[in-house]
Amino acid sequence: MFQLRWVWARLGGSHKRYLFALVSTALLAVMALGNSIITANIMDTVFRPLQESGTAGPGISGHLQVMVAVLVGFTLLRTGFGYFTNLTYENISQKLIYELRRDLYKNMQEQDQAFYSAYRTGDLMTRLTGDMDMIRHTVCFILRQLIHCIVLFTTTTITFFAADWLLALCMLAVTPFIFLLTFLFSRQVHPLYVDLREKLSGLNTAAQENIAGNRVVRAFAREGYEIERFDEKNRAYKEANKKASLLWLRYSPYIETLSQSLSIAVLLVGGIFLINGRITIGTFTMFNGLTWTLSEPMRSLGVYLNDLQRFFASAGKIIELYYSKSTIVSRPDAVMPQGRVKGRVEFKDVGLKLRGTQVLSHIDLKIEPGETVAIMGPTGAGKTSLIGLIPRFADPTAGQVELDGVPIRRYDLKALRSSIGIATQDVFLFSDTVDGNIAYGDSGMPEEEVERFAQIADVAGFAEKLPQGYDTVIGERGTGLSGGQKQRIALARALAVKPSVLILDDTTSAVDLETEKYIQEQLAGLDFPCTKIIVAQRISTAKRADKIVVIEDGSITEVGTHEELSQKPGYYREVFLLQNGGEEERQVG
Ligand SMILES: Nc1ncnc2c1ncn2[C@@H]1O[C@H](COP(=O)(O)OP(=O)(O)O)[C@@H](O)[C@H]1O
Ligand SMILES: [Mg+2]
Repeated sequence: MFQLRWVWARLGGSHKRYLFALVSTALLAVMALGNSIITANIMDTVFRPLQESGTAGPGISGHLQVMVAVLVGFTLLRTGFGYFTNLTYENISQKLIYELRRDLYKNMQEQDQAFYSAYRTGDLMTRLTGDMDMIRHTVCFILRQLIHCIVLFTTTTITFFAADWLLALCMLAVTPFIFLLTFLFSRQVHPLYVDLREKLSGLNTAAQENIAGNRVVRAFAREGYEIERFDEKNRAYKEANKKASLLWLRYSPYIETLSQSLSIAVLLVGGIFLINGRITIGTFTMFNGLTWTLSEPMRSLGVYLNDLQRFFASAGKIIELYYSKSTIVSRPDAVMPQGRVKGRVEFKDVGLKLRGTQVLSHIDLKIEPGETVAIMGPTGAGKTSLIGLIPRFADPTAGQVELDGVPIRRYDLKALRSSIGIATQDVFLFSDTVDGNIAYGDSGMPEEEVERFAQIADVAGFAEKLPQGYDTVIGERGTGLSGGQKQRIALARALAVKPSVLILDDTTSAVDLETEKYIQEQLAGLDFPCTKIIVAQRISTAKRADKIVVIEDGSITEVGTHEELSQKPGYYREVFLLQNGGEEERQVG
């Protein structure tokens, strides 16, 4: 039930209007009985006297006209009222979902890495679409139908008892059984719907991964395997759906039969009462005309109750997302950097544990403003994890990282990240123009600026040859560009924010040596002060750095310049000898 309370709280300024809509639904349900009651009245006041006396008495036909006019007027009123009620439901529920989707999306933007590694994309998409729609469906349809059913049933019961208690009792005798059946059904179907939702999310995830990884699939000629894998999820979803539907099929014959028995009760018992004069033809007509207002609510109650179960499952997922909080946030007393950040970065006895694995330990490293530091080390050593600590992609589990002498946790997170330019190891480009991708950090950037950074990152050379130059839209994730071209756009994007600290994670690994040399020269001559931290695999990238840091197995094992490290036995020297074909070994030593 807390899910309903939560949604109610989200209705914000619409509470009164929503209550109005619910009350209107109840009134409309009462009004639904009107037509049959008016018809019954016509029966007793027009047709019965007519049949008994054989002729139309004075005023009878006038009375008929009046009653028919009342009937028409009443129907128009009911339709108009219904129209406005529908409109209100639609407006409220669309507004609710719009705001909820906006808030959820905003919350997702604030999540940390842990969040995105815990939730699969397909699952998040299911929450933002299917689950969200289930909430809208509940607010504008299910709750309203439940009220409609309950009020319709209650009003009919009262009307029946007022007309003839014995006939009413006969008709109501079966209703407890229908209730019992729908109740049992809804209790059994709940876990099935939770499962159904999971299966749908699995299906979405499979599809999403396949679409995103389509190149790999084709490269490995694994289409058949992928189709099979999707088929498996698809079948699981079908089976879950079938299971839920079959459960309803198992109950529905009993529910239907019991509902139909109401009509039989009216014909049989009502007929006998009519014959022996206990009730009038009007009363009989009314009972007969209103069997549906007893049977319909009962038949649908089961359906709506189980739709409500689906709502509980979906709302639970939405609420979980709504309240998931990133552990990496600005503190309430966060400080803004005073002017431009100078770019002194210091790691003080930093340790990092990720999901039980010690990724980094006892890292002590001081980087002065404007320095260029190269970080080298085998794959899996912890290079990406180390540089990720600076923009706070993760917080260290021991020690601290400082920027300009202030612990980075104390900075306002947005301000901290704004002073850092980063090109991540897995290049991600948006399906936007080349121009738009470079200016991502500052959409208002003038074109000349974009082109200037494109020049520095050596994007200009190939961008100008694209069909629409900088205005060429590159595909999702940069499909249609080479690895090195994507890396260069990512570098231009990182540079374009004029960062105080520039972090490049293997950013030139896919560009040729000549281009790399050009980029290095450009980076050395930047017209704004900038500390450069460059993760590299190649000696050619690292050797001009002011300082080279080697990380092995989560710890710093070597620090020094190219001259120092290339002479000292260790990782750097080994890589150096390997990459230079052992030639320089003879020269050096
Ligand atoms: N989110 C994570 N959860 C658990 N372990 C991780 C996570 N990210 C990285 N690791 C582990 O941390 C180690 C260092 O990874 P990484 O920093 O990417 O290395 P490098 O960049 O030097 O290749 C690896 O053993 C990797 O498996
Ligand atoms: Mg890495």
